[in-house]
Amino acid sequence: MNSNSKPILEVNGVSKSFGGVEALREGSLNLFPGEVLAIVGANGAGKSTLIKIIAGVLTPDRGHISIRGTKITRQDHSVGFIRQMGVEVVYQDLAIVPNMTAPYNLFLGRIPKKFGIFVDVKQMQAKTREVLAELKVETVQSLKRPISEMSGGQQQSIAIGRAIAWGKEIVILDEPTAALGPNETQQVERVINEIRKRNTATILISHNLDQVFRLADRLVVVHQGHTSKEFLRNEVTIDELVKAITTG
Ligand SMILES: Nc1ncnc2c1ncn2[C@@H]1O[C@H](COP(=O)(O)OP(=O)(O)O)[C@@H](O)[C@H]1O
Ligand SMILES: [Mg+2]
Repeated sequence: MNSNSKPILEVNGVSKSFGGVEALREGSLNLFPGEVLAIVGANGAGKSTLIKIIAGVLTPDRGHISIRGTKITRQDHSVGFIRQMGVEVVYQDLAIVPNMTAPYNLFLGRIPKKFGIFVDVKQMQAKTREVLAELKVETVQSLKRPISEMSGGQQQSIAIGRAIAWGKEIVILDEPTAALGPNETQQVERVINEIRKRNTATILISHNLDQVFRLADRLVVVHQGHTSKEFLRNEVTIDELVKAITTG
């Protein structure tokens, strides 16, 4: 992270209630280009609510977010608009279509057509190889086979690749390795380090505090609906973090 850089995303005092429950109370954070920011907190602390507001799935009752200094108004606060502003979410359950190829998964929703009619498979395969090379993901499998034949780590890498392949600069990873074994987790962690190198700003939600310590540059603790503490990764111990998560 470049400490001179301006935040690419700002969350300013967002609150959200469901019926009588205040799930989020004046949540605030800044996200800078090229950093991995972890959001940690106990179950029910408000992490998902915060992420859904950032992604535009939920509109805040109070407060707002800004992207590249542009305040997102209430009317504009939607998934479509926020995606257009460059925010992409990779959800925990692999958001891939198992019986389709990796290139089709990478191009979901934006399949290129030659002459407006034929699907340009060659172009899709070339782009997929490019993205996999950029993320340093090695694949022996044919790109003509269903993605389900790839390992879970490779599949998740494609899902992350899809998020960054189209110039998106802000990526939210919601428990990206929750469904993966140790080797596959390692592979996805390498991919996260690669996207940091290309100056993507990443928000990581993870229950795995060891992982958070391996990957994050900064950590924000959510406690009882409030963004209660913020640490630089190098200035906090796991014990201090656990204390902040449990007692605020
Ligand atoms: N759609 C909803 N309707 C009612 N209550 C909700 C809803 N979403 C979240 N909550 C409540 O808001 C609080 C925060 O939830 P959540 O943001 O999912 O926490 P976390 O992701 O940290 O586990 C919890 O008490 C949860 O029960
Ligand atoms: Mg959650």
